[in-house]
Amino acid sequence: MQMTILGIESTCDETSVAIVENGVKVITNITSSSADMQSKFGGVVPEVAARQQVKVIIPLLKETLKDIDINQIDSIAVAYGPGLIGSLLIGVETAKTLALVYNKPLIRVNHLVGHFYAPWLSMDSQDITFPAIALVVSGGHTDLLLVKNHHNFVFLGGTLDDAAGEAFDKVARILGLPYPGGPEIEMLAHKFKNPKLNLKFTSSLMNQNNFNFSFSGVKTAVLNFTVKNSVYDINEIAFAFQKSVLDVLVLKTIRAAEKYKVKSILIGGGVSANQIFRSLLTYEAKRIKVNCFFPEKKYSTDNGAMIAAAAYYNRDVVDPIELQTNSSLYF
Ligand code: KG4
Ligand code: ZN
Repeated sequence: MQMTILGIESTCDETSVAIVENGVKVITNITSSSADMQSKFGGVVPEVAARQQVKVIIPLLKETLKDIDINQIDSIAVAYGPGLIGSLLIGVETAKTLALVYNKPLIRVNHLVGHFYAPWLSMDSQDITFPAIALVVSGGHTDLLLVKNHHNFVFLGGTLDDAAGEAFDKVARILGLPYPGGPEIEMLAHKFKNPKLNLKFTSSLMNQNNFNFSFSGVKTAVLNFTVKNSVYDINEIAFAFQKSVLDVLVLKTIRAAEKYKVKSILIGGGVSANQIFRSLLTYEAKRIKVNCFFPEKKYSTDNGAMIAAAAYYNRDVVDPIELQTNSSLYF
């Protein structure tokens, strides 16, 4: 069925509005981020994020609807959780107002589900087949799921403490690097050219036969190392830390794909922008003959297009008067 959806994302420090046709074709996707403003605090300050959301949401909507008549939009979709309550409210109340004023169906989307619909926005998405393993690996979450079809997801495991992206951000802070830490650490790790890696951080829960993760141990190990050693190679620390996080993410995703005999692996979330992660997982997926789908890098981090894509395949239509935000929403 032909369907054009306007998607709104405002769960954390990004405000994003997109128009997507039939869950795959992005007509427009505009994102404004307060990450630069947050960088001096070493992480997201909820109050700063929410205030910025209020400032930018209407200009973003105006820009989005500049060349397209609102009558061409069939539905409004919004991420209603999980996230920061102040930020969530801005997107959700805006979406509810649009749905009521223009009399459009309102579709609610779980932000985490949105992340693993980001690969549908890529050229090769017609090759995605079920069942699939989905890994959402972001600043707030590290979750592995078995996706049986568009309506049936089974949670397999997740982080017991810090999310993978959160570990990147915290280690960056320890090393004196700005927020968000992921791209900074990836850049330093890339500079480490010494083939003989002397420094190793263990990957937690690597040998446990489950789909859980834990990243706070490696963060503490980095902290202890920097306290104990006054002279160290920051590039080597970045490399060893990144390796420890990525190795366990790849291993458990591949293990889940083998156990459930899936046809596809779907990856979403900010950490999926990491090029080394993409290469490692693609290599391992090829080895077990499963197709692995990543979002285009611009759709790895939070964006409205993935919300509109998820809404197309999973039409959870709600009454705009009734819709509430859910900051601790899970699967
Ligand atoms: O999905 P996202 O934009 O927001 C959440 O829903 O959390 O993810 C942001 C997270 C941050 O922790 C950031 O450091 C991490 O994704 N990230 C990366 C990279 N780019 C962003 N982590 C590792 N390598 C990257 N290249
Ligand atoms: Zn996210």
